[in-house]
Amino acid sequence: MMINLPRGTQDILPGESEKWQYLERRFIELCTRYNYKEIRTPIFEHTEVFQRGVGDTTDIVQKEMYTFTDRGNRQLTLRPEGTASVARAYVQHKLYGQVKQPQKLFYYGPMFRYERPQAGRMRQFIQFGIEALGSADPAIDAEVIDLAMTFYQSLGLKSLRLVLNTLGDQESRMAHRNALINHFTPIKDELCSDCQVRLEKNPLRVLDCKKDCDHEAMASAPKILDYLTEDSRHYFEQVKKYLDELGIEYVIDPTLVRGLDYYNHTAFEIMSEAEGFGAITTLSGGGRYNGLVEDLDGPNTPGIGFALSVERLLLALDAERIVLPVEQALDCYLIALGEEAELKASGLMKTLRLAGLQVDKDFLAKKMKAQLKTADREKAKFVLIMGDQELEEEAVLVKDMANGTQETVSFDSIVNYLKERL
Ligand code: HAM
Repeated sequence: MMINLPRGTQDILPGESEKWQYLERRFIELCTRYNYKEIRTPIFEHTEVFQRGVGDTTDIVQKEMYTFTDRGNRQLTLRPEGTASVARAYVQHKLYGQVKQPQKLFYYGPMFRYERPQAGRMRQFIQFGIEALGSADPAIDAEVIDLAMTFYQSLGLKSLRLVLNTLGDQESRMAHRNALINHFTPIKDELCSDCQVRLEKNPLRVLDCKKDCDHEAMASAPKILDYLTEDSRHYFEQVKKYLDELGIEYVIDPTLVRGLDYYNHTAFEIMSEAEGFGAITTLSGGGRYNGLVEDLDGPNTPGIGFALSVERLLLALDAERIVLPVEQALDCYLIALGEEAELKASGLMKTLRLAGLQVDKDFLAKKMKAQLKTADREKAKFVLIMGDQELEEEAVLVKDMANGTQETVSFDSIVNYLKERL
């Protein structure tokens, strides 16, 4: 029986993979412009990294991790996100001790969550993310948000909405937490069983519940904005000022809490408002996580970052009918007629490739006409034809596919000839 790929994963075939490569290049380019450097961490980590990092009461850790025991009896987990791994690496390699601070890092690669698959929700998905560790300057919160927005906008997306909130500092959160407990405890029995546990362990998570989201107690729940300390309020005001300065529009949503435990202060999500984008409207999310490095046994270090998934980005591009410029065309297609010409053609092909041209030829002993068709399909800019006569003259017949003109060009000058015209 044929074996299919696992649920929630996908094969990205030629024709599609060029889009992924293109987006990857654009992301690297943008990160480089903002002076973020690439970090590559393993695809799997000790499970504890996420239990401590992302948080024991989150859906990710409770329900969505791909966790396994390896042959050495270690508890490992396929990374569900990148931030905890980056923080782990930051501590392990003592990046906090480097002169260059903040450490501005970016990453891209597969993440794994055991979720119910639907459009834009996969079990393996590719995240692009950045993390800036070591600065508590509101200007860097704005920089992270700016990079995210600029990435989308530079690809042509227009129907974007930046949703912003603050979760405050420890003290604000404790005050808010108590208010949430007081608010939800009287109606505890009406909440789902998960929320009843959350209410005791981490009441903020109740606000994020997918089952209870329509309960009337949700809308009237205490808002963090009413519990902010003076410092937290000031920090939030500063972030907003910087965003204003950068010309970035946002809406404040006091119910935005994010699904991971490490956040404090700034939290944000970028949504697509494009018609036809689908049921899941979040394109990306991020925020500040000043306690995370410490939770992973490092020194007290502020941090902020965000991550997007390519799957959702592609859906948004589709919804806005944006076609990425990824069409690939060959520089030349070689057609050889006869055994000796075939041999010579393979040598010539290598010469052209070494010179940096994109070149291919037929490997199926097709007739001349069929080979021309292939050249056409591959959108070859030039077709190089080599028959007995050309062989004798140590030359090729070059056909410019744009205008149909033909010219015989010697082997010696073919590279220059093509380079001048491409
Ligand atoms: P997150 O909100 O869990 O945050 O995920 C970030 C983004 O990853 C989402 O907005 C979405 O685009 C994408 N994503 C999440 N799950 C899936 C899925 N199952 N299928 C497709 N795409 C998905 C984080 O992961 C944080 N680490 C972000 C961050 C970085 N915060 C600070 N630094």
